[in-house]
Amino acid sequence: MEFSTQTSTDLTQINTEALAVGVFKNQVLSPAAELIDQASQGAIRSVLESEFKGDAKTSLVLRQLNGVAAKRVVLIGLGEQKKYNAKAHATAEATFASYAKAASIKEVVSTLASIDTADSSISDRSRAAAQAIGAANYHYDATLSTKNNPSQIERAAIWSAPTESSAVEVGLLQGKAIANGVNFTRLLADLPPNICTPTYLAQEAKKLGEQFDHLKVEVLERKQIEALKMGSFLSVAKGSDEPPVFIVIKHSPTTPSDEAPLVLVGKGLTFDAGGISLKPAANMDEMKYDMGGAASVFGTMLAVAELNLDREIIGIVASCENLPSGRANKPGDVVTSMAGKTIEILNTDAEGRLVLCDALTYAERFNPAAVINIATLTGACVVALGDVNSGLFSNNDTLAEQIKEASQQTNDGVWQLPISDEYQAKLKSNFADIANIGSPGAGSVTAACFLARFTESYPWAHLDIAGTAWSGGANKGATGRPVPLLVQYLINQTA
Ligand code: BES
Ligand code: MN
Ligand code: ZN
Repeated sequence: MEFSTQTSTDLTQINTEALAVGVFKNQVLSPAAELIDQASQGAIRSVLESEFKGDAKTSLVLRQLNGVAAKRVVLIGLGEQKKYNAKAHATAEATFASYAKAASIKEVVSTLASIDTADSSISDRSRAAAQAIGAANYHYDATLSTKNNPSQIERAAIWSAPTESSAVEVGLLQGKAIANGVNFTRLLADLPPNICTPTYLAQEAKKLGEQFDHLKVEVLERKQIEALKMGSFLSVAKGSDEPPVFIVIKHSPTTPSDEAPLVLVGKGLTFDAGGISLKPAANMDEMKYDMGGAASVFGTMLAVAELNLDREIIGIVASCENLPSGRANKPGDVVTSMAGKTIEILNTDAEGRLVLCDALTYAERFNPAAVINIATLTGACVVALGDVNSGLFSNNDTLAEQIKEASQQTNDGVWQLPISDEYQAKLKSNFADIANIGSPGAGSVTAACFLARFTESYPWAHLDIAGTAWSGGANKGATGRPVPLLVQYLINQTA
């Protein structure tokens, strides 16, 4: 994918396979659409009453208009003008990108980012345009016997006023890195669990390290994990024949800075059957996505490396399987975490927190400025927030606000939920320092409260992506969330 700026003041003379112009409802044309309409003797207005209403997610193609060099002018519905915002813009770019992809068009120009919204900058909108094209280009065929090699959108230009072109360029550079990160995350997550094992993830991490000079990758195997006394993580791993891995990916800026590093920690359950507290069979295949947090750390580190951000950023992934076996955790077992806290395992299916708590303790050694963990942690989060927002929990208001800001900039929604002492009390155990489940109710909150016990020494946030990391049903597939928000957060902390 190549992205460029297009600042020709005469829109009608741009030579392209497909030129996108926006049309609002009620026959309101965007400035770009107005220019094309005038040059073509009203070719756009003539279709507004009949064929094209300007509804969001709709498009109409006009070919070979008089006085217009573009081969196709693609009208993109923007919805109501007074409701038009950054999200509606992202939807419009996605509509154009899917049209171009489906029509096998390899080169496009979009004018949509030039339409102002109150809640975005031209850089934000250029970034969104690049993300939309990246998303349209994602194609999974790794385990299909026939590869249909669909055509890709290879080149896209964003049209803007000449004075805005450097802001467009910044957005495109970031958007391309985010798109590559998202697509890497989607591929890792979509791969079947017999291929994408902890060992496979470790190999992918090493490949990343070979690709970029400023990425250093360390893979700890069972012996080394034992030496670190990660008794909680290891208790989950021992139920499976697949060996666990603990992966550390470190990005160092070219000129060392004295700012403390930012750390990401991903839950990497390459399959979660629940263990002895076995899950029901329906949709259990989707528990291959229980490494979605880990996959988002990989995608984010790829983007960070591509952008060569001027900040030390460390990605940690703790990866294993959660299976029932003769060596698996049993309800009632008490294990000792790396932090020394004992944990009573009341439900072996609440394994994510058992894996993460040791990774979060490990993160202390970096004296981090902030730690964000990302996990498909609770079904309760899907009940609470669905596939719209990821759950956000934090022990630090500044960090939570920074994450919300990045979320708003990238249309990658989050909603903050509480962690407080009343909820902490629900994790009481009679036989250990803490129980691995809380009752009754508030399953996402008590899971976050569990993690909070291990993160008291640094600013910390937890993103529960159980509802946002993948879509189920006929369009089953990974989304790549929350890579956009994570990359944006890291960019913002670096600027
Ligand atoms: N990986 C699951 C969470 C999950 C479930 C994500 C469904 C997406 C869809 C996690 O390990 C889990 O099983 N959590 C339990 C916790 C419970 C036993 C306290 C859950 O949510 O049911
Ligand atoms: Mn589970
Ligand atoms: Zn899980």
